[in-house]
Amino acid sequence: MRILLLGANGQVGFELTRSVAPLGSLIVATRVEGGAYPGALRADLNDLDGLRATLAQSRPDVVLNAAAYTAVDQAEDDQDMAMRINAQAVSVLADHCASSGALLVHYSTDYVFDGSASQPWREDDAPSPLGVYGRSKLAGEVAIREADCAHLILRTSWVYAARGQNFLRTMLRLGAEREHLRVVSDQIGAPTPARWIASATALILARLGKPHAARETLHLTAGGEVSWHGFAEQIFQLARQLGVLDRVPRVEAIHSDQYPTRARRPAYSRLDNTRLRERFDIALPDWRVGVRQVMEERA
Ligand SMILES: NC(=O)c1ccc[n+]([C@@H]2O[C@H](COP(=O)([O-])OP(=O)(O)OC[C@H]3O[C@@H](n4cnc5c(N)ncnc54)[C@H](OP(=O)(O)O)[C@@H]3O)[C@@H](O)[C@H]2O)c1
Repeated sequence: MRILLLGANGQVGFELTRSVAPLGSLIVATRVEGGAYPGALRADLNDLDGLRATLAQSRPDVVLNAAAYTAVDQAEDDQDMAMRINAQAVSVLADHCASSGALLVHYSTDYVFDGSASQPWREDDAPSPLGVYGRSKLAGEVAIREADCAHLILRTSWVYAARGQNFLRTMLRLGAEREHLRVVSDQIGAPTPARWIASATALILARLGKPHAARETLHLTAGGEVSWHGFAEQIFQLARQLGVLDRVPRVEAIHSDQYPTRARRPAYSRLDNTRLRERFDIALPDWRVGVRQVMEERA
């Protein structure tokens, strides 16, 4: 099986280079040729013709798309770019897979929902994104379904890892500099380690059965739920316990309106993982287990 991985420098992409390696022949493609992966192909999702050429050259059986425009606030001022990378480029991938018979595995987000629910969002709940990022990711999902290629759309949330740009690393950096931090406590979700997403993806691929027939959207997040404030407290508790920080800051819980951001975020964005469990017998552990694992890696 030839697996083409896009976005290998990102949090999930990096972990996928390890988790899917045993499944077949892995072809890595990044925005610029080579880079951290000697021999990597070039796949700039902003260059749609170049992307088509890379797809034709690599002849994949599976396209794993971990590349995305993920700057949620910046997207508000950069709508064209967000739409090109998260929707138009995804449409190119989907069209290629539809005509070649390859399977497209694509990641999407809790931000396709508006956060107004009070129980975990299910795959069939109506999406209603609050901002440009969520709209562009939803447009990518729609393009895949319209192309009718073999696909898995894996929606996840609050991704973090010991490397890359994420909330955990931001907290550790700010926590080392400041004595007092203010973190919102009225947005609820499930922080999910990139490594778990990658491991689950490999398991799903191994258990898929008939890849050519796959037309599935699945929610894939850690168990449980927490606010960003609760997540920060857990990070600092472990940072002290594991000796990552000598002293930790006081973390004050605030409301979203006390921390205005360019993009609005959903208040409740926990995803229901029942389908993943029933279909693939996969259930990710509680989010706290993930924080400990990533903090131990940092330590
Ligand atoms: N981060 C989250 O909290 C979160 C939450 C829910 C869903 N997701 C989804 O999960 C997936 C993986 O996210 P992540 O957290 O791993 O993202 P990430 O760490 O921000 O990585 C994104 C990757 O996309 C690549 N990329 C961006 N623009 C590109 C372009 N024009 N051409 C080629 N590559 C480009 C980046 O390449 P460079 O390294 O070259 O910049 C980077 O490797 C995405 O689909 C995202 O929407 C993420």
